[in-house]
Amino acid sequence: MRRSCKDRTFLFLSALLIFYIGWFVLNSSLRILRDPAEEIAYLHAISGSSPILHNIQLCSYNDIDVLNLIVSSGSHFLERQSIRETWGSMSHMFNIHSQRLFVVGYQYGNNLYKDLSNEAQNEQDLLYLTVDDNSMTLKELYAYRWLERYCPNATFTFKTEDDLFINPFLLHELVRELKTQPDRFQNRHLYNSSLDSLFLAHLNPDAHTFLFGWAFQPGKPERNTSMGPYYVSYKEYAKDLYPRYCSSFGYLMDSKTRNLLVQEGFKDKNPFRFSDIFMTGILPERLNFICDVLPFTYHQGTTEQCISIIKRYNKKDIQSSIPPLIVCSTGRHIAQNTFSDYYRIWTVLKYVYGDRVHNPRSKMPKD
Ligand SMILES: *[C@@H]1O[C@H](CO)[C@@H](O)[C@H](O)[C@H]1NC(C)=O
Ligand SMILES: *[C@@H]1O[C@H](CO)[C@@H](O)[C@H](O)[C@H]1NC(C)=O
Ligand SMILES: *[C@@H]1O[C@H](CO)[C@@H](O)[C@H](O)[C@H]1NC(C)=O
Repeated sequence: MRRSCKDRTFLFLSALLIFYIGWFVLNSSLRILRDPAEEIAYLHAISGSSPILHNIQLCSYNDIDVLNLIVSSGSHFLERQSIRETWGSMSHMFNIHSQRLFVVGYQYGNNLYKDLSNEAQNEQDLLYLTVDDNSMTLKELYAYRWLERYCPNATFTFKTEDDLFINPFLLHELVRELKTQPDRFQNRHLYNSSLDSLFLAHLNPDAHTFLFGWAFQPGKPERNTSMGPYYVSYKEYAKDLYPRYCSSFGYLMDSKTRNLLVQEGFKDKNPFRFSDIFMTGILPERLNFICDVLPFTYHQGTTEQCISIIKRYNKKDIQSSIPPLIVCSTGRHIAQNTFSDYYRIWTVLKYVYGDRVHNPRSKMPKD
């Protein structure tokens, strides 16, 4: 009697365990299946050669002087939200209108469709493409093609990524300078940086292309196979040196140049996977131009360093210091879990530029 009771308990517990394991396996396999709504939206987008989600009104409300194209990733909601609440929050300043647009790609099994549709609806700043979320190059190319169609009148595009911090004050001031009396361009400066090359390119778009950023001299592809994803085979890139290119941290281009890059980029059946080298080096080389120097400070390093660079402009000796900061990295750039970086940098930047926003003609605040 006792024994059979024990047996029954054992049987019962075994059945429970088997049931639990079965339930667990079934549940985890269900999790990698597509959400049916996502599947329908994806197939619909593929058959129509359209994005899965897009905000087609993005550029229809105002004239847009500069469109901030931020390459993101489906799961990077916190990066996008941090940008929306910090540097991406200023769309009207110095009489210049900017607009942000986040680009994300598709990844099978991610099941982000519901979240991304809510985000697109609430924020109206999202472009969810069918191209692979891991391909920076394809996301950028397809986003430019989308802009060509849906934002034809945006004057400039500033391309950057969601782990970086942009100085929107400086970007707006620069665009305002370029818009103001462009015919009287000689000897124009912004914070002691000459704008000659930008004006020359801007004034004569028939003869020039307009692409400016953090320009690097030609460098060698990584040929050491032990370097993982950085390794570049000769099949991928045959030459010994990359062309001169601009860092993916951020580059400014006009619509004509952007459209040229799209046209040339789509001719390539195997676009190079490092998007900055491809978009600002390889394609311009084929089209016979270069990415030129944007004469402001780019910084890759810690948030403390970034903040100290910004603070220098709160000093009297601004004339003698390096040009003001246009882009710096946040801890997200090296995968640190530091979303507070965006807010810390933003607080300092707003303080330093605060006076200028309310009284654009005034000098920098003195300390
Ligand atoms: C772009 O500008 C042209 C000419 O000013 C105008 O006709 C057109 O409607 C504008 N397009 C959009 C999408 O705003
Ligand atoms: C910056 O301004 C100072 C003072 O006006 C001048 O001496 C210096 O040459 C300028 N530097 C640059 C790079 O224009
Ligand atoms: C490739 O990289 C590894 C690890 O960094 C190093 O030990 C090795 O010497 C390198 N090989 C060549 C040919 O440079």
